[in-house]
Amino acid sequence: MSELQGKVAIVTGAAAGIGRAAALLFARGGASVVVADRVEEAGQAVVAEIAGEGGRALFRRVDVSSEEDCAGLVQAAVDRFGRLDIAFNNAGIAGHVSKTEDQGLEHWHRILGVNLTGIFHCMVHELRAMKAHGGAIVNTASVAGVRAAPYSAAYAASKHGVIGLTRSAAREYGRHGIRINAICPGVVKTAMAEELAAASVPGSTEALLAASILRRAGEPEEAAELVLWLCSDKASFVTGAHYMVDGGLTA
Ligand SMILES: NC(=O)c1ccc[n+]([C@@H]2O[C@H](COP(=O)([O-])OP(=O)(O)OC[C@H]3O[C@@H](n4cnc5c(N)ncnc54)[C@H](O)[C@@H]3O)[C@@H](O)[C@H]2O)c1
Repeated sequence: MSELQGKVAIVTGAAAGIGRAAALLFARGGASVVVADRVEEAGQAVVAEIAGEGGRALFRRVDVSSEEDCAGLVQAAVDRFGRLDIAFNNAGIAGHVSKTEDQGLEHWHRILGVNLTGIFHCMVHELRAMKAHGGAIVNTASVAGVRAAPYSAAYAASKHGVIGLTRSAAREYGRHGIRINAICPGVVKTAMAEELAAASVPGSTEALLAASILRRAGEPEEAAELVLWLCSDKASFVTGAHYMVDGGLTA
């Protein structure tokens, strides 16, 4: 595989789950990867894994809710690898499960701050770095970005916002050769999905999966494959779109 040969990529939330799987696939595709996460030890382990396979990677500790961290992240990619071609803005948190009136303002701001404002911060600096030569950006939304997520109002609002941000920026930056898309995962086997299942009514995740077409949860790699494709030149006619990768949950 060499679909990303010579490209420089940023992946946020790359220490675990879907982000980790994408960072590994990007590196196997030939990209130099900046592994960005707020968790250093697991992030460094991903860098070591990439290096062990003969790839090039760098860890950068970031909290995407900080604009300063996101600016520093893009600068680190440019300083170390000379440019920025690809960004997978994926870091996200689920928050707690409660009725809308009980979500709480602090919780609301925290979820929006990471899941939506975090992507905005990253995009502002990524777009500036890509404008001169073009690039590809993929943002992680969710099935909760296109339909209701009862008892997760803040999360659903943040993910609906990701799709609006993605579409609007795509309209603006097509002329600069920058394609911008979103992915909408369903239930994918990661720490976040486990955490959500534990916080929800027992059996509700199983019921959700039973109602989906493929009747199972996805592997992180199955979501990452879509991201790899969207970031590659094979997706040269694809922008301003959001793609379900949910085993048919929303079909
Ligand atoms: N797993 C699912 O079922 C599922 C479904 C739909 C959408 N998603 C979305 O996929 C994305 C990745 O989630 P995952 O399932 O791989 O979860 P995960 O918990 O396995 O990984 C998330 C990673 O993001 C990092 N992170 C969290 N907050 C951060 C911050 N403020 N700054 C930097 N890094 C931060 C975490 O440290 C972690 O390494 C999220 O945006 C999530 O909302 C996941």
